[in-house]
Amino acid sequence: MFTRIDHVGIAVEDLDASLALYDRDYEMTLVHREVVEEQGVEAVLLDVGENHVELIAPLGPETTVAKFLERRGSGLHHVAYQVTDIAAQLARLKAAGVRLIDEEPRVGIRNSSVAFLHPKSSGGVLTEIVQPSHEGH
Ligand code: CO
Repeated sequence: MFTRIDHVGIAVEDLDASLALYDRDYEMTLVHREVVEEQGVEAVLLDVGENHVELIAPLGPETTVAKFLERRGSGLHHVAYQVTDIAAQLARLKAAGVRLIDEEPRVGIRNSSVAFLHPKSSGGVLTEIVQPSHEGH
């Protein structure tokens, strides 16, 4: 099962410009910043209580996030739910008929294991499941 909302992912053109809003105006604490090559993004995590906001900016024009920004502009990109056993959850969701983007977990921010579910079978919401690494969270 999903244990909590881990983060909401927000696609932005420019991380530093966006931090003026989240960090300075909203007073969220920036806890992590990382280039996640595997996902073609540079990402920052900000704390909101026990949950996070994840700002993601594309590393290049061919990345999926760059294409998202081109189509939709900056804004809400995905919702991520935390799980304790991502392999078991992927198998269960697949058996339930949920369309997966990632059949296998891959490496996410802070060494977490992540997998994306297709918005077509997730009510139009790009959905991520996350199993944090031991050093994260
Ligand atoms: Co995410």
